[in-house]
Amino acid sequence: MFSLRRRNLSRLAFAAAALFLIRALFFPSSSSPSSSRTFASTTHSTQIEEQNFIERATRPDKWLNVQKHKFLQARIGRDSRDEVLGDVVRNGINDYWDRFQLPYIESRDTASMDAQHVLTAIDQLLSLNGWVAALCPTLVRPFNQNKHDDTWDDIIRQEHLYYFAIVIHSADHFLVDQLSVIIQVAKRLGPNNIFVSMLDYQSTDSTETLTDLCEAVLILLGVPFRIRRVPGMTEDPNAAYYPLEEAHMRNLALEPLHELHQKRQIKFHRVIWLKGFTCPNDILETIKISFANDAAMVCGMDWAEHNGFFIFSDRWRTRDIEGDQFRQSKSSSKPDAVPPRDKVGAARYAQHLPFQVFCCEAGTHVVDPAQSYYKGISYRSGTDYHNLSTTDDAPIRGPDAPCLDSSQAWFCRDLWVRGARDAMDEVDRLNGAVPARANKRELNLVDVAKRDPLMDEARAAAAEEAKQKREAAGGPAIDLDANVGSDYDAMSDEEGGEVVPPPAPEEPGRMAIPNSVFRPARILVNPRCPTTYAGVSHTQLALDLFGNGEDNEGVSGKYVLEDWEGAPESFVCQEQRQTGGRRATKTQRRLGFSIHDELQKME
Ligand SMILES: *[C@@H]1O[C@H](CO)[C@@H](O)[C@H](O)[C@H]1NC(C)=O
Repeated sequence: MFSLRRRNLSRLAFAAAALFLIRALFFPSSSSPSSSRTFASTTHSTQIEEQNFIERATRPDKWLNVQKHKFLQARIGRDSRDEVLGDVVRNGINDYWDRFQLPYIESRDTASMDAQHVLTAIDQLLSLNGWVAALCPTLVRPFNQNKHDDTWDDIIRQEHLYYFAIVIHSADHFLVDQLSVIIQVAKRLGPNNIFVSMLDYQSTDSTETLTDLCEAVLILLGVPFRIRRVPGMTEDPNAAYYPLEEAHMRNLALEPLHELHQKRQIKFHRVIWLKGFTCPNDILETIKISFANDAAMVCGMDWAEHNGFFIFSDRWRTRDIEGDQFRQSKSSSKPDAVPPRDKVGAARYAQHLPFQVFCCEAGTHVVDPAQSYYKGISYRSGTDYHNLSTTDDAPIRGPDAPCLDSSQAWFCRDLWVRGARDAMDEVDRLNGAVPARANKRELNLVDVAKRDPLMDEARAAAAEEAKQKREAAGGPAIDLDANVGSDYDAMSDEEGGEVVPPPAPEEPGRMAIPNSVFRPARILVNPRCPTTYAGVSHTQLALDLFGNGEDNEGVSGKYVLEDWEGAPESFVCQEQRQTGGRRATKTQRRLGFSIHDELQKME
């Protein structure tokens, strides 16, 4: 039990922090960022952990109880160096606090009003809508999704635990909206049922200040979090190998997931990667589709503004179920030119139904950790890239060398291979045998013959030319990959990004075990979950994509996919063979993918 005095004290700290925050949130111009930073993040807000009005008002104690377990709200790598005029600002705040806030909060006559202020403040915070998120309920969605408030009741009732992961690299204009989306989702799923992991990767804009704000808001609402800032892997961004960086950032953002699992036996049911901006209902629906299909991963679709249109914008990482890259389609594209190239995917896309893919990322995506992270799958990348900052020669790579593509593409292939292996082990177990590996089975061991290089010389030349053009353009030393969407990562058209390499010729004498005999990975795209970036008119995008939204609600397959395909025998590999940051030159080839071969390598 609190003593009266202690209760008053913590209440007062809480109230002051809350009021300050409300002011900082809703009237940003009245306080400078540096003062809100010093105050909100350090002085008083940490004291309010004692209180949790939200939880008291809503749900009983669950797993992620931030009062009992302090470690559930952590900040790592804060820039705690003294700021210019930091002393002056701090003195001013303390003076204001001592003279104008403390006396009223401590006084018996006004104390009850303060409690009321806090509750009002929290109410206001909970309705934090951001700028874009406020529009969400008015946007057109298929099957009248936005008109039924009870659609998500079933997943809300289950009280599962959800892990939100965000990697921020100089993308401050998303952050307030992303925070508001998290709050909206937290309000429905319960603040104690979610964990928020934010990784600030070497941001140079106001991300640092905004993560302070996020920290303060999450403390107030009793949401568990870890906010962490880390330096870049290389000092010079151009000496970085982007896929390696991607893997590094992703794995860091997942560290609390593994710690909570290993040290506290806390298991999350789904991990939600937020990238860009996605509406709360669309996230809830993607989660629902993920559960309904027992899916390893469900992605939304990225749309970016491009010459006055909205185009599908994650062509680097997304591959349809035949292994081909998605088209750079407009949101208003005709049925024969929609993003997925495969027939089944295109048909389902046109009906706004989830469709199976070989790989996706596309902004917000939902991953089942039980099928991935908890099995030891982490993000990785190719290793035999050429470091242009050294005098080393480019490594010699055979035509079958692993694809030097995005870390997400590696993750997808890992999901396919691991899923297949687990299915084989299950069958063995059912048969009462000790699980054996592929090469101990009666499988034909295949001699993998060397293939002809499929690298198209003309395309390589075009790529080189594009690179030289970029280098010649020079330009100021600004952080070019700040504030950009996924299309920034796509292989440009002049590099050949829209060219689909033909299937590899059948090799005489090669007796491969087809991928179709292995259990498929359940990777889906939910076209009803648009993720957007700056400059997108959400109302127009929704109209382009979903028309009037009056689909037949009884349509089957709205949530569940019945027929699952095996992995494609080959896929379009868009690779970065050298360092040079996110926009390093990419080249393209079609590369065979054999689950059987991959299983052999795992031995
Ligand atoms: C490339 O080499 C430079 C110089 O040795 C080094 O600083 C940098 O970390 C290397 N980059 C990668 C991605 O290995």
